[in-house]
Amino acid sequence: MKLDILLGLQWGDEGKGKIVDVLSPKYEAIARFQGGPNAGHTLIFNNQKFVLHTIPSGVFRADTENIIGNGVVIDPIIFSKEIEQIEKDASDLKNNLLISKKAHLILPTHRILDAAQEAAKGKDKIGSTLKGISPTYTDKISRNGLRVGDILSPNFKEKYNRLVEKHKKQLKSFDFDYNFDEFEKGWFDGIELIKSFKIIDSEIYVNNTLNNEKAILAEGAQGTLLDIEFGSYPFVTSSNTIAAGACTGLGVAPNKIGEVFGIFKAYCTRVGSGPFPTELFDEDGKRMQDVGNEFGATTGRPRRCGWLDLVAIKYSIMLNGVTQLVITKADVLSGFDTIKIATSYKVNGEEIDYLPYEINEKIEPIYTELRGWQNDISEIKSLSELPTNLKIYLQFIEKFVGVPIKFISVGPDREAMIVK
Ligand code: GDP
Ligand code: IMO
Ligand code: MG
Repeated sequence: MKLDILLGLQWGDEGKGKIVDVLSPKYEAIARFQGGPNAGHTLIFNNQKFVLHTIPSGVFRADTENIIGNGVVIDPIIFSKEIEQIEKDASDLKNNLLISKKAHLILPTHRILDAAQEAAKGKDKIGSTLKGISPTYTDKISRNGLRVGDILSPNFKEKYNRLVEKHKKQLKSFDFDYNFDEFEKGWFDGIELIKSFKIIDSEIYVNNTLNNEKAILAEGAQGTLLDIEFGSYPFVTSSNTIAAGACTGLGVAPNKIGEVFGIFKAYCTRVGSGPFPTELFDEDGKRMQDVGNEFGATTGRPRRCGWLDLVAIKYSIMLNGVTQLVITKADVLSGFDTIKIATSYKVNGEEIDYLPYEINEKIEPIYTELRGWQNDISEIKSLSELPTNLKIYLQFIEKFVGVPIKFISVGPDREAMIVK
């Protein structure tokens, strides 16, 4: 079997959690391959809402295993809270949740360093989720990190103390007050909890599972435009959010990748700082925020909103080798008279059809305008019942980017879904 991947094509929060939950019954396992508790993946079913941060979105399905891959970073404190919140409803966690030995640990001092670094940046701050993501990946790359496998070693505490001392020295260069001791107990309790799950050599487990003809879906976090390599640098996260990240974050070779599901919202959102060419500051943007309930699932921050940007989506499709598209939140656009889609940019008077090196305020999006639809679509279950103008809008996107839209999500609930 090949590894399928589902990932975001915008700046995150495209609805990955919901779609992975919908697709889970088709898969033996769901595997997260990067990111950490900066992610917030929302699942809604049976009138219940869950937000997952570190744990894959297949966790409520009885026959699905959930793997936290080597590319993920784990905060034992947040992980414990997450387990506590889902324990009652999740399916046999002690058997179905597996954690890679090679996943890196977020220490309390990583979170403090994240906050200190952001504060020092002042108005240039990234708008990080303050979960310690950047300092943890920095330690991974500079070969100082602690991994889940280390917690089984007799000198774990020693390794931990060494890293904490290094962080304390780093923190001295910031003018930043912190209280570290309050976090430490919860952190070590979290480590004990992690020990009670299956800690595995995930790259071997994943490859054996695929070789045994069992299907796995890799669940991306964040989105392509937040990728460390190709996103709107430096306003990005610190991991590879693109399909290639699933190869390194799970240990799966490129020739073993199957379908790549690219998910995007019918409009665009971004939380945190950084460029956003189609951002709206008017009533239309406010309406998207209100109707779409665009507030961060992890931080509660309001999400910036704007029109769909097909220049950016095309770039994301190219980087990921997307084979099928998933569109979410088209229901939020119901009632707009006109729907705009950015189909090229004007930069310094010149029209271009690609994302340039510098994404800044000089980019002026050029829009194609389509007629909106007025009906509420949230109860619709089949393609044929969709309003004609929405069908035209979907066809326009497919033709422009050259990839078929296979799933249309029309509401936050698991059931609000049209499969083409
Ligand atoms: P993720 O990070 O990509 O998993 O997305 P988030 O969970 O952070 O944000 C997506 C938000 O949109 C959540 O509140 C979902 O419940 C909600 N959502 C997902 N799909 C749809 C949809 O098709 N329509 C509407 N109205 N809401 C949706
Ligand atoms: P999901 O998986 C949206 C953003 C932050 C900030 C930047 C860097 O729910 O789609 P970090 O904490 O990673 O150092 O923050 O990335 N960001 C996200 N935005 N959805 C996410 O995850 C995000 N994870 C990080 O807002 O701008
Ligand atoms: Mg989210």
